[in-house]
Amino acid sequence: MCSCEAKTHQCLLELPKCEHHLHIEGSLSPSLLFRLAAVNNISLPKSEDDSSFASAEALESRYERFTSLNDFLHYYFIGMSVLITPSDFESLAYEYFTRAHKDGVHHAEIFFDPQAHTSRGISYATVVSGLVAAQARAEKEFGLTSKLILCFLRHLSAEDAEVTYQEATSLGHFSNGTVAGIGLDSSEVGFPPEIFRETYESAAAAGIRRTAHAGEEGDSTYISRALDICKTERIDHGIRLVDDENLLKKVAKDKTLVTMCPLSNVRLRCVTKVGELPIRKFLDEGVRFSINSDDPAYFGGYIQDNYCAVQESFVLSLKDWKFIAEGSIEGSWCDAERKKVLLEKVEAWALSWNGTL
Ligand code: ADE
Ligand code: ZN
Repeated sequence: MCSCEAKTHQCLLELPKCEHHLHIEGSLSPSLLFRLAAVNNISLPKSEDDSSFASAEALESRYERFTSLNDFLHYYFIGMSVLITPSDFESLAYEYFTRAHKDGVHHAEIFFDPQAHTSRGISYATVVSGLVAAQARAEKEFGLTSKLILCFLRHLSAEDAEVTYQEATSLGHFSNGTVAGIGLDSSEVGFPPEIFRETYESAAAAGIRRTAHAGEEGDSTYISRALDICKTERIDHGIRLVDDENLLKKVAKDKTLVTMCPLSNVRLRCVTKVGELPIRKFLDEGVRFSINSDDPAYFGGYIQDNYCAVQESFVLSLKDWKFIAEGSIEGSWCDAERKKVLLEKVEAWALSWNGTL
């Protein structure tokens, strides 16, 4: 858990959180990675090629030196190659939910990358069955509700994305709620969202929720194109929104949720420090956003670490945090009844911490 000594740590720990931007494959810790590689007989790159895989410690320290999104993705795709069975996916997700629960997460909407698994012979059904089993355990044991968001890898073709979409559709996973929505991730620059326009149009017509990574490394037009062409309801990262005042005002007016990932943005060098992020600007302009961990095993922090990093840089008030927490709930894809319960928890939190921040 976040071990910062800030006076505000406990207050933020108790703040009821929703997490909307978490790649489940990005919660694979080096220790679990090495354990599963041994169990599943997966060979990792040999030291002569890349000494980062010499040990879990060596890998941890390589993760502190990412130079870009693509540099990170190289390790991310190697890492997930150790995930083979439904039980591997269940362990991975259950480990994440356990940690998220300790960090005060009550509702999580998690991304998964089916193409990164089907392309190496692991079936879509294997991935989803493991994740669903972990979701059921987390709800039963912790009262933590969750949703799955199926992401398309934007460095692969639109046809490949469509095949994945059709597989989930044919299994009834969108209509029966197994998968709540679609997203778009992986290398951003050079792969604008409109490449996937047709799949997004089908999803919109079928009432399937839609989000996309945009404005992480790409400029603000990636955000406007995701919204205007792919009709996304959310924007993941969205930090380049600051470069287009009109777009920012529209996002605020439409209450589009922006899922921010502060520690990720620093690790991937989108900004040099958390204080550079447009968090004060978003609050002043009424942009609805949540704070998330993205790939916590790779970026040195889970959700509470991200909350504390934001507080350290911006010294937010209780009113600011209440706005963030309420926006996170309103922008979630859970039903109205669940939102009401979560909003009441935030109200109780604000009363008990009144005068603290
Ligand atoms: N996949 C996992 N993490 C990602 C990120 N931060 N951006 C794009 N794709 C990702
Ligand atoms: Zn992400």
